[in-house]
Amino acid sequence: MPILLNASDYRERARQFLPRGLFEYIDRGTEDEAALRRLRASLDAITLLPAVLTGHESRDLDTTLLGRQMAAPLAVAPTALAGLVAHDGETKLARAASRVGIPVCISTQSVTTVETVRRGAPDALLWFQLYVWRDRALTGRLLERASACGCDNLLVTVDTPVSPNREYNERNGFGIPFKPRPRSVVDVALHPRWVFGVLARYLVGEGMPTYGHYPEAFRTAITRADIAEAVRLEPRLSWDDMRWLREIWPGKLTIKGVLAVEDAEKAVEIGADGIVVSVHGGRNLDCLPVPADCIPAIVDAVKGRLAILADSGVRRGTDVLKYLALGAEAVLLGRLPLWGLAAGGEAGAEAVLRMVLREMDTAMAFLGAHRVPALREVRVNERN
Ligand SMILES: Cc1cc2nc3c(=O)[nH]c(=O)nc-3n(C[C@H](O)[C@H](O)[C@H](O)COP(=O)(O)O)c2cc1C
Repeated sequence: MPILLNASDYRERARQFLPRGLFEYIDRGTEDEAALRRLRASLDAITLLPAVLTGHESRDLDTTLLGRQMAAPLAVAPTALAGLVAHDGETKLARAASRVGIPVCISTQSVTTVETVRRGAPDALLWFQLYVWRDRALTGRLLERASACGCDNLLVTVDTPVSPNREYNERNGFGIPFKPRPRSVVDVALHPRWVFGVLARYLVGEGMPTYGHYPEAFRTAITRADIAEAVRLEPRLSWDDMRWLREIWPGKLTIKGVLAVEDAEKAVEIGADGIVVSVHGGRNLDCLPVPADCIPAIVDAVKGRLAILADSGVRRGTDVLKYLALGAEAVLLGRLPLWGLAAGGEAGAEAVLRMVLREMDTAMAFLGAHRVPALREVRVNERN
């Protein structure tokens, strides 16, 4: 088996293992995928200026974020349906993150419930991601469950008012509800390792994988009809909803998907503890700016008043360092841990996280930054 050395190696292994519909759901962007290209170009255009002769034996990635100590300024981003990538995939991601010493965020749309993840990963630093449902009472109950499981940071995703236009999902017949087409049936049949290693294990155990948190009455087995109205995405969300969440959620509150300075300021006003400067991995709207262009102005406006996190497009440890040098305090990884999970289960997810840490460590040595705060002093030059 060839050694997996970088993100591309893991991605390629994931491509071989997963049915095409699922691989593309994870890998691709939206519409013409300009946002994906822009993300890559924006990170490649950034250069970091080293300080030489800083004289340190080793680097230390230790970070305090939102009042918590963690091993590195990283977290595993919430990703819907991670449980389709490996059997009990969300728990495997949680264990991998826990072993590395960083938080993992469980999605509202996970396959495995937060209770099951907590049982399988008792020591994990768990966050919870919320898609506010139209039915606010059901939303409130979901939050009680997340809080009872010890999730101490709620990431409310505000950049997804409707379902994005992902034409490849349509072509592949991938979606909720899953619409089997000859093409998707052949696709699945061509990936027997996934069928036996993942799907069949659900079928003989808990049944057809579903969105695990969706209330029993509204639960959508992937093959069943429509997602009930009560748990649809909510396009009418407003800052009043964020105030409501601030009142009912006892832990830290982080708003995910902020790009405008004015919105970052509103997040401060409603008492949020953090924001994630994010374009949802280039998966939602194809004409968004890139986080690298938005972070500096947001940092100038709200630094010190809430935690500024960032994500989207990270494929190397140096990409993480670039977001940190621009002023982000921590960075979320979306696709990378999923590729690790596909390539090698729990051990694969852990290996990918350790690979990113190694890449960060090596680059920090070159930059003369031996601790995370020193990275914020690294000068960023952008070539255009
Ligand atoms: C397969 C997949 C599913 C995702 N599901 C969610 C989700 O349920 N909620 C959410 O807030 N973000 C979701 N995201 C976005 C990630 O949280 C994150 O913002 C993004 O993946 C970061 O970009 P990267 O994949 O380039 O690291 C998803 C991303 C992927 C790749």
